[in-house]
Amino acid sequence: MNALAARRRHPAAIAILLLLGLVAVGGAYSLLAPKQAQASVVSAGDINTGKSLFLANCATCHGMNAQGSAAGPTLVGVGAASVDFQVGTGRMPLAAPNVQAQRQDTSQFTQEQIANMAAWVASLAPGPAIPGAQYTSGQNADVAQGGEIFRINCAQCHNYAGSGGALSRGKYAPSLTGSSGKTIYEAMLTGPQSMPVFSDSNISAQNKNNIIAYLKTTQTEQQVGGMTLGNLGPVSEGMFIWIFGLGLMLGCAFWLGQKAA
Ligand code: HEC
Ligand code: HEC
Repeated sequence: MNALAARRRHPAAIAILLLLGLVAVGGAYSLLAPKQAQASVVSAGDINTGKSLFLANCATCHGMNAQGSAAGPTLVGVGAASVDFQVGTGRMPLAAPNVQAQRQDTSQFTQEQIANMAAWVASLAPGPAIPGAQYTSGQNADVAQGGEIFRINCAQCHNYAGSGGALSRGKYAPSLTGSSGKTIYEAMLTGPQSMPVFSDSNISAQNKNNIIAYLKTTQTEQQVGGMTLGNLGPVSEGMFIWIFGLGLMLGCAFWLGQKAA
């Protein structure tokens, strides 16, 4: 009989065996368990950088703690998506009080600085996060469905092809021909100014992606019917036919009348 076999019936053997089993299972689980996806990649340092950028560039209007002032609304609870949208499109920092913040071609800040400010604002109170690339690329999307949702929800302000249009009191819905997928998604998520909010429960993430795909198609599509006339729909087309169509008919009428005389 060897030593192991001799101790097999020792009273402590069962406890030791159980312990070993538990350690083995626990160890294997912690090695193999699916890792939780990193919810956010911002560190405390990023948030602090964001705060100092905010104090230097935005606090005069939005307040030292983003609580708002007479010159700008509170940003508590607007979320990272709103900051990314407003600063990323160059609307913020607002140059001068106006009926509507203007979109600029370039932002004053790098994408990293914007992300830091967004992280700071998001740390104040929960709000919509910056959407991931999965639903902003317009890939794997249903263009026809996107077009339908766009015509129902957006075309009354932005025109059926996204060329934009005038609103009351000097405001306007901008043309969407240059808007990136991320900008389109964030605009729906945050509803800037007179635009309504379309949350993910209202228009699902997949349908937002479908809208993005539709808008990208209108941006790149070849015009089969000739001139686009600015894609403005009935206004420019009506004007064209009134001026040129009627003008041609009047011309013919005069010409015929002169010949008869
Ligand atoms: C000159 C004043 C002024 C400055 C400076 C300014 N803002 Fe604004 N901000 C405003 C006003 C006014 C509005 C609301 C007007 C609008 O929506 O068109 C606004 C709106 C916003 C919104 C949208 C809020 C919402 O309800 O979704 C965000 C986000 C924002 N600002 C962020 C910033 C950030 C970040 C900076 C600094 C980089 C900044 N602002 C600088 C005046 C300012
Ligand atoms: C009631 C009118 C209205 C409706 C409906 C509306 N929008 Fe807007 N939209 C606006 C206005 C006004 C702005 C500009 C806000 C500003 O500059 O602060 C805007 C801005 C945007 C922008 C930002 C463009 C850029 O590049 O800066 C996008 C993208 C956008 N809208 C997409 C949509 C989509 C998609 C829908 C439908 C799901 C929609 N909008 C519905 C009025 C509207």
